[in-house]
Amino acid sequence: MAEYDVIVIGGGPGGYVCAIRAAQLGLKTACVEGRGALGGTCLNVGCIPSKALLHASHSLHEAEHNFAKMGLKGKSPSVDWAEMQAYKDDVVAQNTKGIEFLFKKNKVDWIKGWASIPEAGQVKVGDESHSARNIVIATGSEATSLPGVEIDEKVVVSSTGALSLPRVPKKMVVIGAGVIGLELGSVYARLGTQVTVVEYLDQVTPGMDDEIAKTLLRTLKKQGLEIILGAAVQGVDAKKTKATVSYKLRKDDSEHTLDADVVLVATGRKPFSDGLGLDALGVKMTPRGQIATDHWQTSVPGIWALGDVTEGPMLAHKAEDEGMAVAESIAGQAGHVNYDVIPGVIYTSPEVAAVGKTEEQLKEQGRAYKVGKFSFMGNGRAKAMFAGEGFVKILADKQTDRILGVHIIGPSAGDLIHEACVAMEFGAAAEDLARTCHAHPTVSEAVREAALACGDGAIHA
Ligand code: NAI
Repeated sequence: MAEYDVIVIGGGPGGYVCAIRAAQLGLKTACVEGRGALGGTCLNVGCIPSKALLHASHSLHEAEHNFAKMGLKGKSPSVDWAEMQAYKDDVVAQNTKGIEFLFKKNKVDWIKGWASIPEAGQVKVGDESHSARNIVIATGSEATSLPGVEIDEKVVVSSTGALSLPRVPKKMVVIGAGVIGLELGSVYARLGTQVTVVEYLDQVTPGMDDEIAKTLLRTLKKQGLEIILGAAVQGVDAKKTKATVSYKLRKDDSEHTLDADVVLVATGRKPFSDGLGLDALGVKMTPRGQIATDHWQTSVPGIWALGDVTEGPMLAHKAEDEGMAVAESIAGQAGHVNYDVIPGVIYTSPEVAAVGKTEEQLKEQGRAYKVGKFSFMGNGRAKAMFAGEGFVKILADKQTDRILGVHIIGPSAGDLIHEACVAMEFGAAAEDLARTCHAHPTVSEAVREAALACGDGAIHA
């Protein structure tokens, strides 16, 4: 039995970051992870492998559609799926091994296995018990399915199965036009699969700024994805190698079916805390099955929780920030997360990124605001990359000019958004961005132009 200051349960982005920071702050720290590799869903079966496949399939798209336009002639590459999978697995392994290295470097013990908490201050892994002054639950989330739809990870798959299909399917039906559905739907569409996305709501990516969501929908349709909106999936009839998805159109209750080789269920994720023994401990939960917290402390003293298993957006970077804040709080520092400035990115092509309020939210609050918009068509660098589609939209307070929200669809949106995040952390006005010199020629000039459009006007529009 070993004694620790902190035992973190879960080695995903929330858990491993918390463990590393706790060790850096001088606390004797261990992290329990039973998956066989560190990095959680994000590194093993989420963000990282999907970005490898997005990069590979985007490169194919460039070769097929844009190379010839630049005078690069010749036969476009064909897809060797086994090699693409091996490349993806290698990217995953490099990243998960990287966390192992960081644990060693920072003297964090990796306890391999699945943990339970028999009582506050005790963590059991297999036959071994360890004591800890602080226990941090960072056990993440798992895919949800629809009532009556069983995920077999072969024909009916979650994002996990979709990342490791044995072959590129001819026909795929994606249930849910959220982040996972659109990212993985675009991967397979680019690889030649006929992809149909069925979405309950009347728009894609719920919660996103309306104008951006409409532009994304139009762009994805142009890329060949079929997207059926306002359609409630009723069930999936799965056979050995095929499945039929039945859905009802909400506008007229008409019933329809779609055949597919693979059905991807992407209707959300739910918090995962099975096997920890939280009931017996009396840890309070929210009505949505998350662990209830107050500044990341659960209802049981000495037990903390963070990331997907708690309230808030299920995003790796939100969990990472909470991981640092919890470690700092345990070490007696002032742990802090600014929940108003958490960016969201969708890695489609073009990328979509957002931070702060949407126009719809500002209207609902009755807040007076102004809009500065700039199209990537007016940006020289974007045009040279055939990436003129999309725009930057800045929402600023009408009186004070303070930036309230930034929404980008276009090249490198997921990187550009951080200029807005930094500005918002400093309480900047749109004019602050507009008066900041931006290197030419970069796509970041579009952000400055949108900021200029909040004042006397953009130059290149
Ligand atoms: P989501 O919540 O983003 O989207 C689920 C979609 O399914 C919604 O649009 C919903 O209306 C639809 N839906 C639900 N029931 C339906 C039905 N019966 N018929 C048709 N449509 C139905 O969930 P998603 O995409 O599964 O992602 C799960 C979580 O993982 C999210 O919290 C997301 O933020 C996170 N994630 C984030 C990524 C990123 O930041 N790039 C990448 C992947 C996942």
